[in-house]
Amino acid sequence: MTDNTRVLIFDTTLRDGEQSPGATMTHDEKLEIAQALDEMGVDIIEAGFPIASEGDFEAVSDIARNSKNSVICGLSRANLKDIDRCWEAVKHARRPRIHTFIGTSPSHRGITNLDQDQMIERIYQTVTHARNYCEDVQWSAMDAIRTERDYLCRVVETAIKAGATTINIPDTVGYTLPQESAEIIRMLLERVPGADRIIFATHCHNDLGMATANALAAVSAGARQIECTINGLGERAGNTALEEVVMAIKVRRDLMPYTTGIDTTKIMNLSRRVSQVSGFPVQFNKAVVGKNAFLHESGIHQDGVLKNVETFEIMKPADIGLTETNIAMGKHSGRAALRSKLSDLGFDLADNQLNDVFVRFKALADRKKEIYDEDLVALISDSTANT
Ligand code: KIV
Ligand code: ZN
Repeated sequence: MTDNTRVLIFDTTLRDGEQSPGATMTHDEKLEIAQALDEMGVDIIEAGFPIASEGDFEAVSDIARNSKNSVICGLSRANLKDIDRCWEAVKHARRPRIHTFIGTSPSHRGITNLDQDQMIERIYQTVTHARNYCEDVQWSAMDAIRTERDYLCRVVETAIKAGATTINIPDTVGYTLPQESAEIIRMLLERVPGADRIIFATHCHNDLGMATANALAAVSAGARQIECTINGLGERAGNTALEEVVMAIKVRRDLMPYTTGIDTTKIMNLSRRVSQVSGFPVQFNKAVVGKNAFLHESGIHQDGVLKNVETFEIMKPADIGLTETNIAMGKHSGRAALRSKLSDLGFDLADNQLNDVFVRFKALADRKKEIYDEDLVALISDSTANT
């Protein structure tokens, strides 16, 4: 990749996202989501973990067969059997990728029972094996953030020497903060021979609510692939949310002078569909895609956006494919919002009738949490009947 301002979007909704307890998707749902991700412009789709189950293998194989533009990636642990199985599934793609990983931090080394030197040998052997199948190999140092810095440099150097083309630096337990996320990428770029030939990826979890900030900090330091999921779906507190990083890059070009290939107008529909098929509702105040993300109820805010939408909105609802109104009618709404809302519904009232409806509207809003269009129409009918 020659354009150093282009950030690749690697979506792992179908792998890390689906690993959230209760988020299992059917074969057809996975195919549908993969097609939508491909159409949206996601660069790499991590379609699953082929050795995990027959179902995962079939899903990754079918997604690979049906892929159009995106690279299709499968996950495998650091052993030859996993990698063989992964290749069998992704090989059908126009652009296949094998992703292999091993936990490199002291606690993860304890689990695999490998000492530092044995792990180096394992990394070299497995990445070489993957490269014999495929030109596009991603290697991840699971729990990289809690790995000793010198050892992290050694494992990354080994994976590059063995032929990895993307090196992923995951914050597996959502432990890091933006300054550290950036510092690690900077250090690897400075210290590891061959680091300038490969792409560094950032893969953050949201345990401290930092996933988006940490991913953006890593990009500022030189990472050029962000791993993320739709709605931030993922184990525990989830992964970096695709819609957040993509919109942050779009909205703050001044601080983040990068581009992605994402068609942002497809975000809202895909967010809703992933919520439906995963069974995970999107919280109302979720950034970018929450039900309230573009809604204004207070009179001051409503008056502001009616006069100049930029007073309280930093992005346009249409940018994420949202067409619904951004005014919520409630007890904090003012006369200007009521007039505008009624006009949208086809009622242009004279001042005295508007005053009358406004008084009734406020009384209703004190009793009722949400005021629907039908409530407003009923208020107008009452007002007309009383005059
Ligand atoms: O969080 C993590 O470390 C992972 C790896 C498998 C990349 O999901
Ligand atoms: Zn993860």
